[in-house]
Amino acid sequence: MRFLDTPFRQALAVLVVAYVLIDFGIPYIPPLFGVDSAPVPNTVVLQYLLTVLAGLLLWVSDNDERWTEFKRPIQEVLVRPDKRVGRAVLLVAVPVLVAFVTWGRVKPEVTAPPSFRSIHPAPPRSITFQGETMQLAGLENPLRSEGSLEAHNEVGKRVYYQNCLPCHGDALDGLGHYAHGFNPAPLNFQDVGTIAQLTESFVFWRVAKGGPGLPREGTPWNSAMPAWENLLTADEIWSVILFLYEQTGNDPRTWEEAGAEEGEH
Ligand code: HEC
Repeated sequence: MRFLDTPFRQALAVLVVAYVLIDFGIPYIPPLFGVDSAPVPNTVVLQYLLTVLAGLLLWVSDNDERWTEFKRPIQEVLVRPDKRVGRAVLLVAVPVLVAFVTWGRVKPEVTAPPSFRSIHPAPPRSITFQGETMQLAGLENPLRSEGSLEAHNEVGKRVYYQNCLPCHGDALDGLGHYAHGFNPAPLNFQDVGTIAQLTESFVFWRVAKGGPGLPREGTPWNSAMPAWENLLTADEIWSVILFLYEQTGNDPRTWEEAGAEEGEH
């Protein structure tokens, strides 16, 4: 090959081939053995290329004749009058390349902030609960106008202590025994930021469907909140909701408020 007739070009070719093999070739090897492949980290590529370069320099400087031959094109570009254009191009290109790489390293990153999880994502308009469709919009807690509040509250208390206590805590403050093991942490119902802001139908939806029932904007999602749909009856859920508000002294948000605020937007 005419092109590869000088040590300089041979060395350059070896370097390029080495680069292609290391950066693009190596990832093809693991699949041959049925192992998942991964890209070669840049620092590793650089390290291998430096090793190859050291080998090449040893080889070209191994005898005087080859060393002189190797340096000739470099010297020519730097001094010969007829290589003026090439020299000018190199003198511009190299600093520009260095500047470009440096800029690429230090330029401020404008990546999107980690997506914020919406703690209270918009609830669906309706859900299916134990096979039946349930309209959430406008739905109030039916137990408030049915029988004795006190009796419902007692049921709610039992449901809470049997099921919710380990996470949401004895004081309904989200500090149950297991709470520290979960991220996101179980919510603190005493906090004005939780059930005090919600309609009871929203709370019903959250209790019935739990973490698994959260929509996309509730992600990245690994909520430990269980779905209670198949473990509790609708009345038990409405009772425990009564209990949560009763016990914390919070008032649920009503649909009139919710509607008025929506109108303002
Ligand atoms: C295994 C632990 C665990 C248990 C048991 C548990 N929860 Fe939760 N709960 C969580 C976690 C964690 C969250 C916060 C993440 C989320 O919103 O899903 C949460 C959130 C909630 C919310 C959402 C409040 C809001 O402001 O959006 C309600 C309501 C709720 N739980 C009620 C209950 C009720 C009622 C019970 C018992 C029937 C219960 N939880 C049992 C872990 C639990």
